[in-house]
This record gives sequence, structure tokens and C-alpha cells, in this order.
Amino acid sequence: MQMQACAPIGVFDSGSGGLTVAYQLHKILPSENIIYVGDLQRMPYGPRNPGEIIKFMQQFLNFFKLKKVKMAVFACNTMTSWGFDAAAGREPYYLVPMNTAVAEAVAVSPHKKIGVIATEATVRKNFHSDVAAELDKDIQVIARACPEFVPLIEGGHIDDMAIETVVRRYMAMFSADKIEALILGCTHYPIIKDLLKKYLPSYVTLVDPALSTAEAARNILEQNKLINDDRQKGSLEFFFSAMPEHAGEMVKIVMGIDNPVISGIDLSKFN
Ligand code: DGL
Repeated sequence: MQMQACAPIGVFDSGSGGLTVAYQLHKILPSENIIYVGDLQRMPYGPRNPGEIIKFMQQFLNFFKLKKVKMAVFACNTMTSWGFDAAAGREPYYLVPMNTAVAEAVAVSPHKKIGVIATEATVRKNFHSDVAAELDKDIQVIARACPEFVPLIEGGHIDDMAIETVVRRYMAMFSADKIEALILGCTHYPIIKDLLKKYLPSYVTLVDPALSTAEAARNILEQNKLINDDRQKGSLEFFFSAMPEHAGEMVKIVMGIDNPVISGIDLSKFN
């Protein structure tokens, strides 16, 4: 692959959840130029069928090809679980999947009892359970879909009664399971992690795969001598297919960036 270290890194998700990954990436690789793309027009992806998920994933990847990225980071578990294998090796740049973080969760679970919360599509694909089974057959994974979270978070409910009521209901489903760690298997969920903690026993460790995913991206860049060693701070560009004001608000909340420039994008054109 012919790539330049100064080329940007694409980061993508169905909406603003992937900003949790972009944040970690920007933190550990501050000189990298990042192009973030969120499909707020067609989110949530969780209830969609595999064909649609793969088609939409390809549109992001086609856009990144035009942008001449050196790498694209799947900041979405739903697209990773259904689309990553199909995309691997087919683009002229490196692809980084969302990490399942199963190993990280097992490390903090003495009885190997792990909970996972994710979208319906990710749970249906057994994304985390399959990795756990391969790692160690004694790991018990209890994966549950939380379909109401993403529409609420993208509706601006990140710290109010509407989201808290649903958090309480979903976390209560784990009360008899005695899980020791809970993997946040959707990139939107770290945005509400304080609320999730509030409704879980204190011995449950929340595991957010965003940092280990960003670290995996850094490793690939290092191995291939593609780290941008420009002393300057990297640029951050944001593209969203709808709701630019909400997107700007989420960039501020998740990444701490005031008044980000948000550009529009029609992903359906990138077939
Ligand atoms: N944030 C995404 C994930 O990690 C998907 C959310 C959705 O669109 O349902 O799976």
C-alpha cells in the first residue's frame, strides 16, 4: 500500500457515538488529521438488516477512498460485527475494527462472568460471545440488546429522566446474573456511563473498548511507519448526514471541542 504519513485517518459511525473513539484516538495521536463521519440521517443501524449495514459501511469506505485516507477506524460495533470481514483487504488503506474488549473484561472478572450491552444487530451476530468462546470456553457472556439507548442519546437525552428510566430498566435485567464486568458494546454507551454505573452494583467494572481500539490503530501506524510526526496539532473535520446542531453539541460534550465546524454529507451518493 502506497500511503503518506500526513494522510488523514477516517473514523466512522452511524451517528455521534463513534466520537468516543475519535476522542481517544485524538488524545493518543494528537498530530493525526482525523476525518469523522456520522450518519445521523439513517441511524440507528442496530435494527437494520445485514445487507443494509454492509451497504452503508461501503459508502463510508468509498468516501474515505476519495479523501485518500491512510486508515479507516470502525467506530461502530454494529458495522464491525457485520461488515469488517467483508471489507478487510479490499481498500487501499488500513482498516481497524472496533475491539470487542473481551480479554480486558475477563482480566477484571474473577469468575469469568461478563455482561455485554450492544445493539440488536451486534448481539444477533454473537460478536462478543464468539470471541469469548475462542479465548476460553469457561467465559460466560450474557449479551443483551438495548435498542432504546441510541435513539434517546441522539435525541439529546443523555442526562435526564427519560434516559435514566430506560437505564434503570435495562440494568435491572442483569441483577440476577452476577456479572463482574460490563462491556459497552456500542460506541454510544460511554456517553451515559455515569448513569449506567449508578444502576449497577459497585463490583461491576465498566469496560469501554474505545481506548484499546485507538491503541490498535496506533500500533498499525507504528508498525508501518505511518505516524504523522508533524509537530503541529492534527486537524479535525466532522461530516454528518443530518442534524448539524445536535452533532456540534455532541462533539463538544464528547470531545470537549467548542464550536466545531460541521459539514453536511449525503452518504447515499458514495456507491
Ligand atoms: N454506535 C454504533 C455501535 O457501536 C451503532 C448504533 C446504532 O446506530 O444503532 O454499534
